[in-house]
Parts: sequence; C-alpha cells; structure tokens
Amino acid sequence: MTGEENKKTPLPRQQPLAPIRETLLLWYDRHARDLPWRGEPDPYRIWLSEIMLQQTRVETVLPYYDRFLRDYPTLDALSAASEEEVLKRWEGLGYYARARHFLGAVREVLARYGGRVPPDPGEFKRLPGVGDYTAAAVLSIAYGLPLAAVDGNVRRVISRLFCLEGEEDKGAAEKEIKRRAGELLDTGRPGDFNQALMDLGASCCTPRHPSCGGCPLSSFCLAHHRGRVHAVPQRKKQEPPPLQEMTAVVLVRGERCLVRRRPPEGLLAGLWEFPTLTGGDALAASQVSLGEEWAVLHHRFSHLRWKVSVCWGRLQGEPPQGPSWRWATAAELAALPFPAVYHTVVEAVQDRLAQGRSADPAAFWSPRLEKGKHP
Ligand code: ADE
Repeated sequence: MTGEENKKTPLPRQQPLAPIRETLLLWYDRHARDLPWRGEPDPYRIWLSEIMLQQTRVETVLPYYDRFLRDYPTLDALSAASEEEVLKRWEGLGYYARARHFLGAVREVLARYGGRVPPDPGEFKRLPGVGDYTAAAVLSIAYGLPLAAVDGNVRRVISRLFCLEGEEDKGAAEKEIKRRAGELLDTGRPGDFNQALMDLGASCCTPRHPSCGGCPLSSFCLAHHRGRVHAVPQRKKQEPPPLQEMTAVVLVRGERCLVRRRPPEGLLAGLWEFPTLTGGDALAASQVSLGEEWAVLHHRFSHLRWKVSVCWGRLQGEPPQGPSWRWATAAELAALPFPAVYHTVVEAVQDRLAQGRSADPAAFWSPRLEKGKHP
C-alpha cells in the first residue's frame, strides 16, 4: 500500500500554497532529471523538446532530440530543410503531424518574427501545433513567463494534491485543475516549477503505483490524506480502438520496389508505404496478382489499430503513375520516411534488393516476418 490510511496529521481545510511551492522546488533542485533541454537558453531547442515530449516518454525522445539538433542545430537550419527530410528524422517517434507543424511554425517564426520565438502567448499560440500546454511550457521555461503548463502528469499531481474527484479531463474538472495549477505556480521560477510537477508525475506520482513514501508533497496531499490516491484522478474506461485490416503489396522490378507517398493530410501524412489494396490511392485488385503472405504487422495508434498482411505480388499491366508513386532502390528506401509499422519489412526488402535476390521469389521472401502482436 502507499499510505492510503494516513489519517494521523489533520490537514488544514485550506492547503497553504507557499510551503508546497517551496518544498517542491527544493526537491527539484536536488532530484531534477538531468535532461539535455534543461539549462538550455535557446527557445528553439526548448520548443523542440516540448513538441517531441507530447504523448511521448522522455527515454524515447532523448536520442531523437540529440540527432535532430545535430542535423538542425538552429531555427534557421531547420527552416531550410524539406518536409521529407524532417519526417525521416522523426521516423519512429510517431504523431508525425507534430513534425510537419513544427517545421511550418519555425518557418513562420523566421518569416514573421525575424527568427525570434515570440514571447507573447497570443502570438506564439497562433503558430501551427502550439496549444495552451506547449505555449505555457515553452514560454515559462525559455522566457520565465508565469504560465502553468498542464499536461497529463501535472493533471494527475494536481488532482491528487487537492483531491479533485471526477473524471480528469471533463470540462469542469479540467477547468478546476487549470485554476489550481495557476494558483499554485511559483511565479519566481515558473519554468522550474512546471518541470518539477512533470518530474513528480513521472517519478513518484505515477498512475497505477504511486510511491507516496518517497513523495516530497505527501504531507500536503489531500488524496493521500484521505486514502484516495488510487481513486483520484478517476480513470476513463478504455475501449480498444477499432481494428482496420488491410493488405500491402511488395512489388519488385529488377533492383527496385514500388512505394507510394501517403496523402498530405490525415494519418501518417506524407510518409511512404507499400501500396495497399484498400484506402485512398489503392491499387486495384485487378492490377496485381497476389503471391504468398510474407508478413503480418500489427500497430496500435491512439484511435485505431492496424493489422497489415504483407504479400508479394506481380503487377498486371501498367504501374500507377504520378508524383506519389516511386520505384525505389535499396538506397532510396533507406532515405524515405516510413511508418514504424513497416520498418522490419523495409529493412528486409532493402537487404534483398541490395543482394540482388529479386530473381528468385522463394529466396526473396523467406523467412516469414511477424511483428507487433496486439496486447
Ligand atoms: N514532459 C514534457 N515536458 C517536459 C520537460 N520539460 N521535462 C520533463 N518532462 C517533460
């Protein structure tokens, strides 16, 4: 247990905020995670970290962050990059609209604000991909603006600290969480304070197994005091997202394989994939003769699950034409951004093309691949 029965020290009806701030910042000064964007003066780099960290764990982000800044160390450098290059650097990180919006926003900052990330929250939030959370996080950390950044971790910490019952992201509850977070914010060190709450949510105040014994705020925490830590915030019932099943076809001609770019809007926009037999720009079933199933791929998005049967095939007649279609060599495949779900297949196809194995289908296709079982 995590001290759910803690009834010893009565809490005052009105929790005093100053000691909570002070205690949390002292804890942060000793225990802050050593992350590359901390102590970073460049708002562009701080902004990038906050974009990458949306819906994504710190450990996952770290190598992407370093690589991205090695290739695009400044806002100017990124502005000059193509969307495809940027998507390639984002490959595997998911939520690719973040990358496209960030590139668009950075170009806008260069064009409109002379390359200076605007410190005005209204102006900053007009840029693509910048919402309340990102604006508050970036502007508090980069410029010391007194804005409370409320992400999932912070929402949980605040809900428990003030024992706010009710589903965490429902209208009124959400408003109350934001109000409390705003009141609690340390306006002298808003960036550190926001990050301290984030760190607390990632270390002690975790969703399922909070370690209240090691939490610096447990003596102030109303949920802890009332034995409600496991009940607050109320969790949403999770239905598994709908399953979409499809067939993707690997068509090889000589040293090349047919790939197509997904449309510029929507899921995985602008990324490349093997042609499918269903969906927007699909091959007609009559255009191909399907061979054996070579791989079954599973992937879970936030709102959708995919089951992709990958088959080899032969084209009957003319290949599709147009800028979203391409016969790619092994080297070209390596340079194009593909969704993570296809990576094992892309690598296998690259290997086989590079080995010149395309002449012998049996040798080309074995062994069978399987990836990403649904839980
Ligand atoms: N999650 C989102 N932003 C973060 C930050 N600046 N530090 C740690 N975790 C975060």
